[in-house]
Amino acid sequence: MAKLGLNVDHIATVRQARGGVEPDPVTAAAIGEMAGAEGITIHLREDRRHIQDRDLEILRSTVKSKLNLEMAATQEMVRIALTVKPEQVTLVPEKRQELTTEGGLDVIVNIKQITDTIKRLKDGGIVVSLFVDPNQEQIKASKKTGTDYIEIHTGAYAGAVMWDEQQHELENIDTAVKLARKVGMGVNAGHGLNYVNIKAVAALGGIEEYNIGHSIIARAMLVGLDRAVRDMVELLKYA
Ligand code: PXP
Repeated sequence: MAKLGLNVDHIATVRQARGGVEPDPVTAAAIGEMAGAEGITIHLREDRRHIQDRDLEILRSTVKSKLNLEMAATQEMVRIALTVKPEQVTLVPEKRQELTTEGGLDVIVNIKQITDTIKRLKDGGIVVSLFVDPNQEQIKASKKTGTDYIEIHTGAYAGAVMWDEQQHELENIDTAVKLARKVGMGVNAGHGLNYVNIKAVAALGGIEEYNIGHSIIARAMLVGLDRAVRDMVELLKYA
């Protein structure tokens, strides 16, 4: 069965809105794990707009499933990752002005920097994943970097409005999953996935882990986090 990696960044976003101590992403992670999440994902951004260094440090010692740290391939972040040692790092592109991660990494253009970063992380015992668009050339380049996993950016699929556009994006994801697996990389996926659009992606098969944040935290505000996580875990059973 595919695993749910619960992204708790939005819990930290609400906390930062008042600059206080609640709600705490550490508590959210614990509730998420008890409800069936098999991974906790956080993005430590350069501007620290939501997750703080303190969250990463505490989650490192409290997460029992798997801690997946999303980060940019910068010297500062590599140093932090090698100190804190999450089980997995997912390298993502980062722009200061963006509301959320807007696209996959350009592995083709940045192959040397990404390859060097992966080597340092893997030498430190950390599993590495690269967040990439479902683009065959980017996936072939990803293989050359030595990464263990790719995480397919599902944003274009999630943003597609018309049925034929959705089918087209779904086919791109399917082709990307098959190519990545054929060349020996594990496949995760995420971005913009919700309780409706997850079904068709999960039915493709071949994806090990889904990193989902916004839709789960949005539902949690109405029905509670335990129920919101359980509802998503239930849908992943059809993967
Ligand atoms: N995967 C990556 C690499 C991301 O950057 C994000 C957003 O932080 C997600 C998954 C989760 O996206 P969403 O919040 O839309 O579920």
